[in-house]
Amino acid sequence: MSKFITETVTYVHHWNDSLFTIKTTRGDSLCFRNGEFAMIGIMVDGKPLARAYSIASPNWAEELEFFSIKVPDGPLTSRLQHIKVGDELLISKKPTGTLVLDDLLPGKHLYMLATGTGLAPFLSLCRDPEVYERFEKVILVHGVRHVDDLAYRDFFENELPNDEIFGEWVREKFIYYPTVTRDEFKNTGRVTDLIQSGKLFTDIGLPPMNKDDDRVMICGSMAMNNDTCAILDGFGLTISPRMGEPADYVVERAFVG
Ligand code: A2P
Repeated sequence: MSKFITETVTYVHHWNDSLFTIKTTRGDSLCFRNGEFAMIGIMVDGKPLARAYSIASPNWAEELEFFSIKVPDGPLTSRLQHIKVGDELLISKKPTGTLVLDDLLPGKHLYMLATGTGLAPFLSLCRDPEVYERFEKVILVHGVRHVDDLAYRDFFENELPNDEIFGEWVREKFIYYPTVTRDEFKNTGRVTDLIQSGKLFTDIGLPPMNKDDDRVMICGSMAMNNDTCAILDGFGLTISPRMGEPADYVVERAFVG
């Protein structure tokens, strides 16, 4: 039996030359926790070619959403970027992953730290009611190279705060902090540097990161993950050692196809 289900593409949006979003239909069979990833792909030469992608839509939504980079020589993304509405997308049946609320101890502030397409799991989680029930403040930091890499900026700045269901929670609790490293912008510098220098906390008006109050989810490149983990360890926070064992922070690699 195939480990994939087949869904139909309903929407494709190209943010710029290197980033795009795909939405598909969602059958009844796919269950997941917000923040998890699935393998997604297409048939190539009669065989499935798939890579891990965080599911960007919340688990209550009728459609599935994925946020992808375009890697010019990437076996999958060089093809996937040409996908059109009506095409078929393969999606693995059993999503999994470490960026789940279940693996965080109770706390006051939830920091979601993302670079690049590492944003995807947080697009799902920021539409999870449990996030707002469990935390007083939810801070999403998205680090990118260029201003036009800030995909979903309008969603965070305008759509989500006015959402019928989430708007009130978002206006009260959610802080969106985009930061850019290679253009001029209102916030600049790497996520890691902003945390280490304390500038992030000054800018958002919250105390420096500490084990009593703060819980963290990290999703970026391998280097960003490693550097961020080292900083959090230095602040005395502990990483969840394995799935099902809650701690102060969890980490997942932003997958590149
Ligand atoms: P920089 O421009 O200084 O390399 P990428 O597209 O390479 O994944 O980068 C996305 C964002 O993540 C960029 O702003 C980049 O900054 C930043 N970045 C790259 N490596 C790290 C790291 N080790 N720690 C924190 N941020 C990083």
